[in-house]
Amino acid sequence: MTASLSDSVSGSDSLSLPPAPWWRQAAVYQIYPRSFADSNGDGMGDLPGVTARMGYLAELGIDAIWLSPFYPSALADGGYDVDDYRNVDPRLGSLTDFDAMVTAAHAAGIRVIVDVVPNHSSNRHEWFKAALAASPGSTERARYHFLDGLGDDGELPPSDWPSHFGGAAWTRVVEQAGPRAGQLGQWYLHLFATEQPDFNWDNSEVREDFHTTLRFWSDRGVDGFRIDVAHALIKDMSLPLRSKPELEILVDDGSDPLFDRDAVHEVFEGWRSVLNEYDPPKAAVAEAWVPFTDRRLKYARPTELGQAFNFDLLQAPFLATEFRAIAQKCLSEATSSGASSTWVFSNHDVVRHPSRYGLPDGSTREDMEAWLLADGAAPALDLARGLRRARAATLFMLGLPGSAYLYQGEELGLFEVAELPASVLQDPTWFRTLHKVKGRDGCRVPLPWSATEANFGFGGIPWLPQPEWFSEFAADAQAGVTGSTLEMYRAALKLRRELQAEESLEWLSSPESEVIHYRRPNGWEVITNFAAVPAELPSGVDLSKVVLTSGEAATAGAVGTIAAETTLWLTP
Ligand code: GLC
Repeated sequence: MTASLSDSVSGSDSLSLPPAPWWRQAAVYQIYPRSFADSNGDGMGDLPGVTARMGYLAELGIDAIWLSPFYPSALADGGYDVDDYRNVDPRLGSLTDFDAMVTAAHAAGIRVIVDVVPNHSSNRHEWFKAALAASPGSTERARYHFLDGLGDDGELPPSDWPSHFGGAAWTRVVEQAGPRAGQLGQWYLHLFATEQPDFNWDNSEVREDFHTTLRFWSDRGVDGFRIDVAHALIKDMSLPLRSKPELEILVDDGSDPLFDRDAVHEVFEGWRSVLNEYDPPKAAVAEAWVPFTDRRLKYARPTELGQAFNFDLLQAPFLATEFRAIAQKCLSEATSSGASSTWVFSNHDVVRHPSRYGLPDGSTREDMEAWLLADGAAPALDLARGLRRARAATLFMLGLPGSAYLYQGEELGLFEVAELPASVLQDPTWFRTLHKVKGRDGCRVPLPWSATEANFGFGGIPWLPQPEWFSEFAADAQAGVTGSTLEMYRAALKLRRELQAEESLEWLSSPESEVIHYRRPNGWEVITNFAAVPAELPSGVDLSKVVLTSGEAATAGAVGTIAAETTLWLTP
């Protein structure tokens, strides 16, 4: 298997355009390593498993893989609790396995993006262990956020801030040194689980160490980085800390002490200098849950990371007006800042989109969350409709200018595994909400590769149980089957490469229409009917030019119509 990695991408209209960096309009496939493929039968996916499936990934037609953390970790938060940023968890392989994976990926024409988790380490990180062993006020503690508690004896946490996964954002330690040795002492901040102490990014050692990490993986050949919780690094910890009610009334203008502070951009300017030491420069994408796109786009400026995830489509209901407005807003803002847009429907943190789209019309986010509650009254899902809409949404999105981030298993049309028994749940949300919210395990169940092999061809008995219905969705049950979701993704990704054009589009339908019709500069057209009933095709559309449909039938509808919840691709 050999393919070439060119540093730039040329589309069908490229003769008149300067070449663009590869990542500006890439299809990036997210691998959640523990759940992808298990090569040694221990029930946990691993790096040799990724290498073994490189042929599948090449055939899928993606441009890059992004690997969620594979670093040594106690897995308190699925690996986002990192013990050592410059190594591989022995259960997932070794650095040699990593190198072999990168070599295989590059030989297949696939780039490699790795996850960096700079907001927090794990509590097993060498620096955190040193901080626990040292006294209050020490240089070891200064790499994290340690504070004395409130109350007569420091028995109250320094603030009432909650952690994202439930419970408090502060944990009190038993001092090992100093005058209070052996007694309860200071508190440390963790915006996520107790096992994830937040770094202090005002500390120069922390800053330098992450530069070392970026260079470590860059030198090993990775092509880019996904930056976890990028908007949280810089914090204003000046005393007295503001209370939760005080934070809740802040507007999103950089005044929040914990999120999206202006000074975070200096950090990423520094990272850009490191990434630009390489030729070609390394790519980067920020995970920044920042509501206002002008603030979010700062992370994506060419002087910083280049891209920031846009979760707007992911959060939107399946409605033409919403999709059109979001696409328009994100594209114009990307253009104005020099960033390239990103699009994503699913990842390891959210309910898989065929399930989301199967909720009854008019369902709210709260309904979806209720569906995930351990004992919530679950609204019934219309699965066939959910998948139909998911396929239509995917083709709508893959035609847009910018990069598409796909999550493993979406090419199989997998639904959320909502029926996981409580006894197997591992997400810290489940524990920290005292078993009220199930969390994210339902989108992390190991992939079904084979309809007939043990454990659906994943490897050993998977760390989360696979449901029986996975057999129907297995990769080998769909490969070569016309109309299957896998074949739709393969065809779409292949065509997308051939058709890729300048980063712009022209809307051909009116903003209120339930049918969105847009055209890329080279004549590639995308038409999506968001309605639950067939719609008239826009006048002048020549069905003989349809090259792909999200519908199962080869024809997209009766003459002159487009089927309900369906997308068509047309070429000139
Ligand atoms: C990001 C990750 C998520 C993780 C959290 C804390 O949001 O995507 O999985 O739990 O950061 O690291």
